[in-house]
Amino acid sequence: MRVLITGITGFVGSHLAEYVLAKNAEVWGSIRWRSATNNIDHIKDELRLVECDMRDLSSVNHLIAEAKPDYIFHLAAQSFVPTSWHAPHETLTTNIIGQLNLQEAIRSTKIEPMMQIAGSSEEYGMVYPDETPIKETNPLRPLSPYGVSKVAQDLLAYQYVQSFGLKIVRTRAFNHTGPRRGDVFVVSDFARQIALIESGKKAPLMEVGNLDAIRDFSDVRDVVSAYWLSLEKGEPGEVYNICAGKGWTIKEMLDMLLAMSNKDIKVEQKADRYRPSDVPILLGDNTKFREKTGWEPKIPFEQTLADILSYWRARVA
Ligand code: GDD
Repeated sequence: MRVLITGITGFVGSHLAEYVLAKNAEVWGSIRWRSATNNIDHIKDELRLVECDMRDLSSVNHLIAEAKPDYIFHLAAQSFVPTSWHAPHETLTTNIIGQLNLQEAIRSTKIEPMMQIAGSSEEYGMVYPDETPIKETNPLRPLSPYGVSKVAQDLLAYQYVQSFGLKIVRTRAFNHTGPRRGDVFVVSDFARQIALIESGKKAPLMEVGNLDAIRDFSDVRDVVSAYWLSLEKGEPGEVYNICAGKGWTIKEMLDMLLAMSNKDIKVEQKADRYRPSDVPILLGDNTKFREKTGWEPKIPFEQTLADILSYWRARVA
């Protein structure tokens, strides 16, 4: 079994690589020439890495010809929502054209891999209270350029399944976090600030943005097992929510993290941490995916938070 992970150096990519290696599959990964490899340094010798820029079709053609994958997990993306307002063109190009190139590269070979597309709950965007928990059939009303790029990826996959019979399974993951999460994302950002405060490198002041948003958090280790199952048991052309099915306000999450520290930390809301528009509530319904695959999230959120805090404590000490 040959498995290709685009975006293997990223947070989810590195966890998925560990998961797939444990299944004794051959793991291939695409890597940009300047990508930091710290997330995969501990497993680098077991991986086959191919230099590739997803925005360059010839580069993607080469990647597919080399790897000849049975399974593809397409995770390479610009994944931070605020950056999508500062760099909308880059976000749309990387996410949409990157996937178009991948689909075209597959179409021009004789291999017929199963491919998973990493869509997002951000595709739902504006969701009204009577629409939660969100089912896959909910209208898509994205509120950020990132959300728009993920809608386009999702529909591009659907269209290639219908038009050309590509075997693509679409997943829409809700928020997921865990060790190695980039420090710009909310849980990592807050945990890192606590670790800096504990080590005396920062005044006891936690800087935050919008604390009212509700998010459905899963552990990344549960999410990568869901991605695997999406290809083992999912239906090409179908779309599946991947989520815990429980919502926390960002304030609740912050309070849980603060309770794990013995420091007295003041919280301050900062205007530059607010977005032009923030999705108010993302609380998902995972029934369709659970019934199709038997997936169950295993790691409680409290455990995930404790693990992230340990991760940052070890790094800032
Ligand atoms: N990053 C950040 N920093 N977010 C903050 C802060 C802060 O200081 N304070 C409050 N928030 C709020 C954001 O406004 C948002 O409502 C929520 O915390 C989560 O923010 P992020 O962790 O940046 O994630 P996201 O929800 O925008 O997007 C993530 O989840 C998507 C799935 O729903 C990303 O992982 C996306 O790639 C993913 O698709």
